[in-house]
Amino acid sequence: MSPNSTSRFIRACLRQPVDRTPVWFLRQAGRYMPEYMAVRKHHSLLDICRTPSIAAEVTITAAERLGVDAAIIFADLLLPLTPMGLDFEFINGEGPVIHQPLRTLDQIRALRTDRTPDLSYVAEAITRVATHFNNKRPASPDAMDTLGIIGFCGAPFTLASYMIEGGSSRNYIETKQLMYASAPSSPSPQDRHSERSPQGGVEEPRESSPHHHSQHLSATNPQHNSAWPFLMSKLVDVLTDFAAQQISAGADVIQVFDSWAGALSVADYRAYALAPTTELIRRIQALGVPVIYFGVDTASLLPTFRETGADVIGLDWRIPLDQGWRAVGPNIAVQGNLDPITLFAFEDLLELRVREILSLAAGRPGHIFNLGHGIVPNTPVDSVLRVVDLIKRHAHKTAHAPNEATNDWAIRV
Ligand code: CP3
Repeated sequence: MSPNSTSRFIRACLRQPVDRTPVWFLRQAGRYMPEYMAVRKHHSLLDICRTPSIAAEVTITAAERLGVDAAIIFADLLLPLTPMGLDFEFINGEGPVIHQPLRTLDQIRALRTDRTPDLSYVAEAITRVATHFNNKRPASPDAMDTLGIIGFCGAPFTLASYMIEGGSSRNYIETKQLMYASAPSSPSPQDRHSERSPQGGVEEPRESSPHHHSQHLSATNPQHNSAWPFLMSKLVDVLTDFAAQQISAGADVIQVFDSWAGALSVADYRAYALAPTTELIRRIQALGVPVIYFGVDTASLLPTFRETGADVIGLDWRIPLDQGWRAVGPNIAVQGNLDPITLFAFEDLLELRVREILSLAAGRPGHIFNLGHGIVPNTPVDSVLRVVDLIKRHAHKTAHAPNEATNDWAIRV
């Protein structure tokens, strides 16, 4: 990590003072943007993801059109499923479909963890994006306007939910069934690394008799109670390798998307998701970059999210920003949290909501302005540009140092 970064985005991730609040948008290169739709006309989503020149172009175009402080690489959460051995496709109007969802221990055992190099097209796209923006590095070392490059991957729970459900889900019945068939672990912050094998992984379940392997996983079958931790461990290995490739290629920060963690109770999150998520974040940070951890509908989970050790927590739009920040604690940066549908509202309301968020952040170091979830199709691009403009103009008022009077957390830490 560079303590003297010239990127206001990276500085904010590390809770260092910035000249103004950095801003970028979840799904900033997406279907709302005519430039993206023009590319999409000739290429499928997966073609764009798997062709580094096109993925880089889409990433760069969105960041430059909007004038934001960070570019998130154009890719998808589900890409690691292919080298793991699960085929999937995006079906128009239906979202992702995984053809043979994970339902048996045999299938989990067959998942490959050694083919992550197949994902190198994402790293290649990052190299192109990094080259493009490095060429434009500002002359003054005091400037804070170097664009941050964000790599990303899914969190173990959210990725597992797609693999097990076979696509998007409302109730996560199959996922939770598999989870509940495993022995819960309740790691406390102190001992959360001690329950695992020295490599941090979970050992493969012991085979008692071969005919058990292909049985449907169920809570009543004690033979299967290591299926969930086994799957989590494989995902943590693959996602760490995937993130490592992106970091070597030039990603400054990794965002871990646990989009559907909000489907879990606090007790279940602690028992089944916290340990693997913490392990993944720890391993990514060991590679030298900050980690942003994001989920939706997470108000009740925020105090637990702090235990993952993430540098930045992404807040969804439902919680007032100051309340969310208090829940994760002053030693963690926050990203968020405008309701993406506010971008459809009339100008005055949009402006009011943006100002409210800035005022709840109160100039404390460690706030990155963003939406509380992704931009949706049909969002007016002008509204997005208006938000960027508001953030940039707000900077002139708050000037360099955060207001000491309101910066009480920063004074204490
Ligand atoms: O600028 C960016 O943020 C674009 C890069 C990006 C995509 N997917 C491209 C994409 C990112 C960061 C993602 C992450 C992703 N993918 C998440 C986590 C983010 C979140 O929203 O919580 C998830 C859950 C997925 C899986 C996924 N990909 C789904 C469920 C869908 C279909 C949903 C829909 O709106 O149809 C996708 C498709 C997808 N991935 C699109 C884009 C731009 C839209 C479809 C298209 O262009 O055909």
